[in-house]
Amino acid sequence: MITKTRDLCWLNKKVHQPDISGYHIKDKKDSIVLKTIERELPLLFEGAEPSDEPGSSLVLSLAGDDGNDGYEIRKTETGYEITASTETGLLYGVFSLHRILITKGTLPFKSRPDQSIRMINHWDNFDGSIERGYAGESIYYDSNNFRGDMEIVRSYARLLASTGINAISINNVNVHKKETFFIKGENLKEIRKIADLFGEYGIRTFLAINFAAPIVVGGLDTADPLLPEVAAWWEKVAADIYKEIPQFGGFIVKADSEGEPGPFTYNRSHEDGANMLARAIKPSGGIIIWRCFVYNCGQDWRDRTLDRAMAAYDIFMEHDGKFEDNVILQIKNGPIDFQIREPNSPLFGALKKTNQILEFQITQEYTGHQVDICYLVPMWKETLDFDTRYGKDAYIRNEIKKNSPDPKLSGIAAVGSVGMDTNWTGNKLAQANLYGYGRLVWDNSLSSEAIAGEWVNLTFDLPREEAAKIMEILTTSRDVYEDYTCPLAVGFMCKPTIHYGVDIDGYEYDRWGTYHYADRNGVGRERSVANGTGYTRQYSDDRFREYEDLSTCPDELLLFFHHVPYTHILRSGKTVIQHIYDTHFAGVEKVEQYEEVWESLEPLLDEECYRNVRERLKKQKENAINWRDQINTYFYRKSGIPDAHGRVIYD
Ligand code: GCU
Repeated sequence: MITKTRDLCWLNKKVHQPDISGYHIKDKKDSIVLKTIERELPLLFEGAEPSDEPGSSLVLSLAGDDGNDGYEIRKTETGYEITASTETGLLYGVFSLHRILITKGTLPFKSRPDQSIRMINHWDNFDGSIERGYAGESIYYDSNNFRGDMEIVRSYARLLASTGINAISINNVNVHKKETFFIKGENLKEIRKIADLFGEYGIRTFLAINFAAPIVVGGLDTADPLLPEVAAWWEKVAADIYKEIPQFGGFIVKADSEGEPGPFTYNRSHEDGANMLARAIKPSGGIIIWRCFVYNCGQDWRDRTLDRAMAAYDIFMEHDGKFEDNVILQIKNGPIDFQIREPNSPLFGALKKTNQILEFQITQEYTGHQVDICYLVPMWKETLDFDTRYGKDAYIRNEIKKNSPDPKLSGIAAVGSVGMDTNWTGNKLAQANLYGYGRLVWDNSLSSEAIAGEWVNLTFDLPREEAAKIMEILTTSRDVYEDYTCPLAVGFMCKPTIHYGVDIDGYEYDRWGTYHYADRNGVGRERSVANGTGYTRQYSDDRFREYEDLSTCPDELLLFFHHVPYTHILRSGKTVIQHIYDTHFAGVEKVEQYEEVWESLEPLLDEECYRNVRERLKKQKENAINWRDQINTYFYRKSGIPDAHGRVIYD
């Protein structure tokens, strides 16, 4: 078997600087993370060796513990000094110095994380497949075994720690039969190896659990959360896990959602379910991350009163303030499901007394499968900077902390994007999303352009002008993907199940609650209180008024909130139908430009990287053309209104 060398991504360049030859760790203790630092230094800095000299070129020192993983880097007469109040903070400082020296950033530099929990959720199955994975098989599992390749896990842990990630869950939230047994026996020994390795990099490991495990694994005839035998069973499970894996993080739970079991089976609430598990794991110091992605996926499309967007708020708001102190609710950024354009979930800002995590998706399920280029940081940034209008500075990035009774139990998680592909993410350019996620979640004030710039600088050796071209591709790619797939926030016109490629009515008469309602007069879902489902009322008063009223509803969200005639005039002065045509033509043109730019970079890129993106761009162009032609034809046939510019629309 030929083992291909894995891409080191943004850690592939070493700092060549005579300044950093000897390093000295002040008051060195015997600690796992300090050992990691010693392992990392020579990998990141050419020729770095330990030294006994307190006046060495790189001095690392632990200052008083102020309870977070921040760090400070400054230039000294002899070199550099990194101070932090935790060992993990020092590790972050080391990676940060590497980044600063490669990207020619400035010193002194001080940084502390904006969010406490900075997590990645893997949707990996024991058979090696990954739900919504687009970069090969799982790095953890292979054919219902633990893959056991700890070098891959270590390489991944390095990548994550270098961007500030501190938590990981390693199996699919849809917990199938075999994975239900991860919580017991021999499996725990294997999971411990993974958890130990991540632990070396300051990353805590979590498992997704099956709510029905007491039946499947425990042999009980019920999983009713209010029955003492069920609670006792979970307590024992938790205690056993912690005996094997003392640094275990806790459980993540998808319950009563898309066929997964949950408390509703027993006429119990999500509060009952989450709190029972929380009490079971509390003595061991664990936490329960409970997902709010709960909705009726057996809807009748004929019934217009049901609105999937309303589900999470309807189900969870009444339990605000009633969860155990080690429960965290995990809320997807939007009310539906990771579309390229959705409003933000109305739970943000509304939930006031519940620990909360915001959930993004790095893997490009609805955003191009890591074939189409789609740099997602601008979209995540919009969510973090969204003002919920529940008072002063009520931006989502602040609300998730402020409204969590224990801000240490708040933060951000995202569905991971890596697999066995040697470049980790399938499309080389999709590495920017993994990098960018970590960086943005650590420092919410970074701009998406700055992050793209860092990634390009760390990854390639290109003259400034050429680097700028890649940055331009990245930073415009989200708008371009939106242009050819999702006009004015009409989502789900994609192929059912796989979620790639166009199928305008694919979901229209199905049970998933995601309808565009296009007819001969107009398109969009009416969610106003006045004429529709009343979803708009789930927002703060200001946002409610804004979304409710056609004249103030933002254009980019228009068809999410309202059903309007094709002739409705947007703020841009265009009609809705003309906007649909224009964006679909523009999207394809932009992809064609990406191709040209990429081809012009061929002499400067290594062959594998060049070909990797080149091949995907070709597919992206085919995809964009399909979207353009089908959407334009579909809406032309419905509306009967021709393109004002007379371009080719098939009839
Ligand atoms: C989406 C996705 C599923 C996933 C689910 C979730 O619906 O298509 O594959 O299981 O989200 O977030 O749980």
